[in-house]
Amino acid sequence: MKAEHNELITRIGPNTPCGAVMRHYWHPVALVDEFNPAFDPGMAVRPVKAVRLLGQDLVLFKNATAPGQPAPDSAWALFDRDCPHRGADLAFARFESTPTGSGLRCPFHGWKFDASGQCIETPAEPAGSKLCERVRQRSYPVIERSGVLLAWMGPEGSTPPPLAAFDCFTAPESHTFAFKGLWACNWLQAFEVGIDPAHASFLHRFFEDKSLDEAYGRQFRGASAGTLDGERLPMTRVLREFDQPDIRFAPTDYGMQLTTLRPINAQQTHVRVTNAIFPSTFVIPLSEHITITQFHVPVDDTTNYWYAIFTSFTEPLDKETMRQQRLQAVDLPNYLPKAGRQNNWGFSAQEQMTRTYLGMGEDDINVHDQWACESRGAIQDRTREHLGTTDKVIMANRRVLLKAIETVQAGGMPPGMADPELAQTLSGPDTVDGIAPADACEAYWREVAACKRAAAPWMQEAPAA
Ligand code: FES
Ligand SMILES: [Fe+2]
Repeated sequence: MKAEHNELITRIGPNTPCGAVMRHYWHPVALVDEFNPAFDPGMAVRPVKAVRLLGQDLVLFKNATAPGQPAPDSAWALFDRDCPHRGADLAFARFESTPTGSGLRCPFHGWKFDASGQCIETPAEPAGSKLCERVRQRSYPVIERSGVLLAWMGPEGSTPPPLAAFDCFTAPESHTFAFKGLWACNWLQAFEVGIDPAHASFLHRFFEDKSLDEAYGRQFRGASAGTLDGERLPMTRVLREFDQPDIRFAPTDYGMQLTTLRPINAQQTHVRVTNAIFPSTFVIPLSEHITITQFHVPVDDTTNYWYAIFTSFTEPLDKETMRQQRLQAVDLPNYLPKAGRQNNWGFSAQEQMTRTYLGMGEDDINVHDQWACESRGAIQDRTREHLGTTDKVIMANRRVLLKAIETVQAGGMPPGMADPELAQTLSGPDTVDGIAPADACEAYWREVAACKRAAAPWMQEAPAA
């Protein structure tokens, strides 16, 4: 890849070509949990948080009216962080009520803004001043779904597309759980791990399988759907023993559907169906009945948050267990990983010799992916790489991204969820990890996916991608 193309597809700040593409999509900006006083006691006093998204500094706060008053249009508000008076940091603003909901008052000269960003008081100005009528802080739409707050960073005055009715957004609160973590690298190289089916056989290889009874909430520790000679197969065994996958992909309205085949014997083939939702989200199976929808959200050019929404198609999720598992690896309130370049991601040469392919722990594979993303540098130099057959999805995604940049530069609409008409039609997408008859893989996985969908207690209608 040429250096200028690498720059073009990775830089997402304001006034960059790729940044203009990214601003056609909703992006997670925080977890609802970040405002929960149980996890951050300060939120009981002042539910205001500094955030950064697409290279912009912002302040996010809860918007509520007094009891008895009509609810505000949005329960959340998101502003640019610099006060429109003389630029002081509104992340330190006073959190106050207004006639229409909550608002922020800048501590520098007391200018006050309602949740729409309208300036409603400039107390040091002479009585009768109309100055505040002309002052409005830029505010961005925010919607809440499945424990995640998503922001629209499109041009001022633009209308966001509706959020697609993907499973992760339509399942009830009881059946979804959201978590996140910060990675110190560019968003695209993180996304390119998620759409790389080959790496799971190596990066996440365990020399021994654990009991399937210990699999809850843990990626690859469950069994694939179906059986081999009457036995359930741990995913870790499939990945270890069948490491030369046949990877296929097909364009879809939302991005790409990936099918990864691992022939087991003459009669049976392991099939794994995953999805890339343009521009930075993938959907994969965690287990037979739980999916992971993972967003790689650019904080700026050199950091990204992964946001995962786990969605159950059967029982309500045991959120407490899933939260405790993941809290082992991050520090609150900002979900900073405990492992990283500063401590070699917890690398153990002894473990690499005896227990895992990588040597960075057996409990949480997230750190494996973190190393695979971060160790390539803040922005990977793609002029130095040598791509192979298994990188075909990565190559295809880069072509789609370059095309989207070209389209937006020409004034057009980038693909997938950016299109309001199309966004309304999207649902699913399906994921499967199972053992199929070798001569009928597709019929098999479609049947498994349809059954899972039909049995989900919260599913209104069956069709999906
Ligand atoms: S800088 Fe905010 S009120 Fe003056
Ligand atoms: Fe991975």
